[in-house]
Amino acid sequence: MEIEALSDSRYRPQSYVVGALLTLWSSSIGKKIVMSLTGMVMMSFVLVHTYGTLKIFKGEQVFNDYAVWLREVGTPFLAHGMALWISRIGLLVAVSLHMLAAWQVTRRSWAARPTRYEKKVPMMSTYASRTIRWGGVIILLFVVYHVLHFTFGAVGYAPGQYSPTSVYRNVVIGFSVWYVSAFYILAQIFLGLHWYHGGWSILHTLGVATAWGDRVYWTVGGLMALFVTLGNVSVPVAVLAGLIK
Ligand code: HEM
Repeated sequence: MEIEALSDSRYRPQSYVVGALLTLWSSSIGKKIVMSLTGMVMMSFVLVHTYGTLKIFKGEQVFNDYAVWLREVGTPFLAHGMALWISRIGLLVAVSLHMLAAWQVTRRSWAARPTRYEKKVPMMSTYASRTIRWGGVIILLFVVYHVLHFTFGAVGYAPGQYSPTSVYRNVVIGFSVWYVSAFYILAQIFLGLHWYHGGWSILHTLGVATAWGDRVYWTVGGLMALFVTLGNVSVPVAVLAGLIK
């Protein structure tokens, strides 16, 4: 009887871990933890990507060399382009889990409160927190457009304009279209707001927030959000102003 119980799959350590993870995922706090962890992955990507993007101010050669380096990083230990693919897959998993958890948490909160709060109820909220959901949708639409634009050259270029060899040219030509630049700039503002409130939520979900820590976050998180927003906005603005050509 005892032996039978021990051989039951429920008592195997790996089944226990999978079971615990599924139980965590089924709870709202579990989904928020997933959103926090995947959010940190995406924030790290955006920070590094913004830093890389700013290399465009160093000129065509430096920027294109950087794009080549991204494909070569990890060689000879990894095959050419493999590190880039590993990070693409990691990012895709993070984005998918983040969106799935966000969608499920949103549906639960709508189901729990089918009618909106009346205006007179005082609520502690900032513009960043109020725009977190549809700001996330705008960022998602932006990322889809952005990958089709700069990585595949499938949108935003006249035939023959997209260069498979000069990432610099693609950015300059791409941002010369004012409404494309305007969309990028708008998306960066939402990204900054999402970052700012998202970072604060991460600290609270993971239980590492304190009153003192919150004050530090408003400064450090605010500066990081500002770096990401202004850093990214500076590129289309510089192209439109003729500073990068
Ligand atoms: C105005 C600001 C930005 C500029 C100028 C820019 C520029 C670029 C360029 C040139 C590429 C193609 C790189 C290559 O083919 O080597 C790229 C790829 C990409 N960017 Fe951005 N980016 C900006 C903002 C962002 C933001 C805010 C995000 C995310 C929220 C983002 C996410 C991505 C992703 C996911 C890729 C695809 C990477 C890949 O798989 O090759 N970018 N970006």
